Amino acid sequence: MTVSPHFEFRDGVLHAEDLPLTNLAEQFGTPLYVYSRQALHDAWEAYRTAARDRDVLVCFGMKANSNLAVLNEFRKLGSGFDIVSGGELARVLAIGGDASKIVFSGVGKQVWEMQAALKAGVKCFNVESEAELVRLSEVAQQSGAVARISLRVNPDVDAQTHPYISTGLKENKFGIAIETAVAVYQHAAALPNIEIVGVDCHIGSQITEISPYLDALDKLIVLIKSLADKGIELKHLDLGGGIGIRYTDETLLSPTVLLDKVFQSLETHGLSHLQLVLEPGRSLVGNSGVLLTTVEYLKHSEAKNFAIVDAAMNDLLRPTLYDAWHSVEAVVPRENTANDTVYDIVGPICESGDWLARDRSLHLEQGDVLAIMSAGAYAFTMASQYNTRPRAAEIMVDGLNAHVVRPRETLESLFAMETPLD
Ligand code: LLP
Repeated sequence: MTVSPHFEFRDGVLHAEDLPLTNLAEQFGTPLYVYSRQALHDAWEAYRTAARDRDVLVCFGMKANSNLAVLNEFRKLGSGFDIVSGGELARVLAIGGDASKIVFSGVGKQVWEMQAALKAGVKCFNVESEAELVRLSEVAQQSGAVARISLRVNPDVDAQTHPYISTGLKENKFGIAIETAVAVYQHAAALPNIEIVGVDCHIGSQITEISPYLDALDKLIVLIKSLADKGIELKHLDLGGGIGIRYTDETLLSPTVLLDKVFQSLETHGLSHLQLVLEPGRSLVGNSGVLLTTVEYLKHSEAKNFAIVDAAMNDLLRPTLYDAWHSVEAVVPRENTANDTVYDIVGPICESGDWLARDRSLHLEQGDVLAIMSAGAYAFTMASQYNTRPRAAEIMVDGLNAHVVRPRETLESLFAMETPLD
């Protein structure tokens, strides 16, 4: 049975590329994030193929997975980066990333972050409010630099996804209402040290339908034309990230289908000279990783059966935060499914919300290793040290080789910066 092309069962054992996950769990311990290098390349290839020879800049939405090894794979493949903090900028610069391929998003950019981004020479600031625009102009003047900007407009479309990851509706904190965008662009045009280069939107995450994108695009095209009428010409159009991945049986929106439609529309409106920028996060990394965990105890209560594992909500927050579904596979599944029991897979943290999966039919014994699938995106990056739990190691598998791309944190490191008073 194939779970994904890079994580498949061979001789009854789940592998990452050519390595049995049992070996990795034994060698490095659990919980353990395991990534497939080839999966990253294949996910990138889907965008490259979709772009064909058109002017498309893919800026990896690195909040999904910002391990330097992951970033460096994408850098080598030609990716740019969508950053949302000075910290993310520092990571890109640390791997020698090209600042002219960085777009800087986020509603709350601080002065020091603007200064650092100007110094690095980022391609564009995606400005999310008029107040930010004014501050950026001031910071740019003080820095003796010109800030290239897009306005992130809020097109008020429903991305039809979870409310916490839906960002393009009027009631969301993101972006500038599309109705006021022309006026804000005119303000920008009048501000010193600001150069208008594009328009941006990001309507949400884990989107599986094309219609929200096309609705947003239609609105942006109207805006681009009104701007042209006022003498404001743009160089690029940024449609954000958001393409969903398969956690269970979702039907998928392929980058090729999306890009063909987008370019068709741009051509119809005489706008095919615009560069298209995309900011995909999840779809580049989500199914490139799994989280391995070991069953510590099985506990059978009157109402429920619990498999208590050594990973927890601090390692994978998505289930409890979004009610998200992650498939769970026994790394060495038992053949006799007649003895399957319905389990909630829970962690050791002192919270009832500490669960990773619910109502899963599995035949388990203490000591079994489980793989929580689709843990390449928003897993490690959302991890914490709650309950003084060291963040787990990250491994990158490349064929038959396993590279430690971040070791397990040591206990001492968790409190090394703290100082008790006398
Ligand atoms: N660009 C911007 C401005 C964003 O805010 C995001 C994600 C992306 C790009 C990348 O979106 P993606 O292609 O990954 O959908 N923690 C949540 C997802 C939060 C997404 C936030 N913004 C989760 O685990 O589902």
